[in-house]
Amino acid sequence: MKPHLTNEALDTLFRSARTYSAWQSRPVEDGVLRDLYDLMKFGPTSANTTPARIVFIRTPEAKERLRPALSAGNVEKTMKAPVTAILAYDLHFYETLPRLFPQMKNAREMFANDPALAESGAFRNGSLQGGYFILAARSLGLDTGPMSGFSHEQVDEVFLAGTSYKSNFLCSLGVGTTEMLFPRNPRLAFEEACRMA
Ligand SMILES: Cc1cc2nc3c(=O)[nH]c(=O)nc-3n(C[C@H](O)[C@H](O)[C@H](O)COP(=O)(O)O)c2cc1C
Repeated sequence: MKPHLTNEALDTLFRSARTYSAWQSRPVEDGVLRDLYDLMKFGPTSANTTPARIVFIRTPEAKERLRPALSAGNVEKTMKAPVTAILAYDLHFYETLPRLFPQMKNAREMFANDPALAESGAFRNGSLQGGYFILAARSLGLDTGPMSGFSHEQVDEVFLAGTSYKSNFLCSLGVGTTEMLFPRNPRLAFEEACRMA
């Protein structure tokens, strides 16, 4: 096996990391958002499809456009977050496959001719990339607050109109505060979630 990460790194990525709903007011610089994308983009996706597309909502004006789409319980935490990202996926991700996966000559046509295959692949791999996004953010010293409580129709209409992108989930970014943080909930034990075959 290759050398594994330090305990401190594992704590940062997993064991001590929490989902945050309250935020310090310090901003997240645009350069950090670029660094975040430049890390998460290396996470694997099937046939290197990389269907995730991201809108970083940073300005008060853009936050106001997001507000009506949010579930009641997600409004305040989102409005106060330094940045809230829309994690979306591109149903037409296959248009970039000749460049991203040149080894497979018919990859574009395989997906272009089968919309159901394209949609399931976009959702599966876009969701995986959402997980890479959270871990990349943590590795850069950011806290995250993922949310699925919002109207997909409204978000798609306001922020993704005229594209082939569909919203998957939202994720706030910043430095979290312990306000609104409930005690860590348990996780399933290995014996409950896994079996050896
Ligand atoms: C895809 C996704 C959607 C979520 N949606 C919401 C949400 O709409 N509102 C909310 O308050 N928390 C939401 N959460 C937060 C989860 O409840 C939280 O991550 C989980 O309880 C684990 O908390 P912990 O990371 O602090 O242990 C969501 C988390 C994920 C990953």
